[in-house]
Amino acid sequence: MNSTIKIAPSILSADFMRLAEQVQAVEAAGADRVQIDVMDGRFVPNLTFGAATVRALRPLTRLTLEVHLMVTPPEDFISLFAAAGADTLIFHQEATPHSHRCIQHVHGLGKSAGMALNPSTPAALLNELWDELQLVLVMTVNPGFGGQKFIPQTLKKIRSVRGIIEERGLNCEVEVDGGINVSTAALVTKAGANVLVAGSSIFDPSDGVAAAYQRLHAAALHGVSESVR
Ligand code: DX5
Repeated sequence: MNSTIKIAPSILSADFMRLAEQVQAVEAAGADRVQIDVMDGRFVPNLTFGAATVRALRPLTRLTLEVHLMVTPPEDFISLFAAAGADTLIFHQEATPHSHRCIQHVHGLGKSAGMALNPSTPAALLNELWDELQLVLVMTVNPGFGGQKFIPQTLKKIRSVRGIIEERGLNCEVEVDGGINVSTAALVTKAGANVLVAGSSIFDPSDGVAAAYQRLHAAALHGVSESVR
């Protein structure tokens, strides 16, 4: 499978009663990570997983556990999720005035750091931090729920983030999240995204996780072939 494009299944849409099985199914389908959406009911109007979920998943899979912290302040939760077994910690630029300190904290724990930008937040707010980041997450929906509609205005920001990374020669992933499915996958990869978070389009389809994963990955590759034309 072409590894330039990665799919990060978001377990927010998984069947929580069969979570272990579903995570092992996406691992078997070729995923290199799963995303765990942590919501605190304050930064976003929803409540989801705690560190106990990460701790329970850790021994079950070799996948990278990517924790997307939709909490405020993120600095209060970084150590907790790192100790539970997270490999990558993503926090929101809008959730703290101390982004640089949060990144230092994540790196100090030997983990990878990512920053997420809500649809209304410009990429320019990362200007002092580009060299520190392993991943930038461009939200393609307003965070808080799965199954939302993709916001096409975010394509411009994906292009500008990819442009900055290329220009500076950075080793930083461009991840997108929200409303990613077989209709929108090629749009975001053509714009420069290389990691696609997907919840409902992976876990909802009736023909199973493996088929849904292959379908989405194939659709995403279309955007890559179009972008090189
Ligand atoms: C939303 C979460 C997403 C969500 C994606 O705030 O960050 O990861 O689970 O779900 P879909 O792919 O269904 O839009």
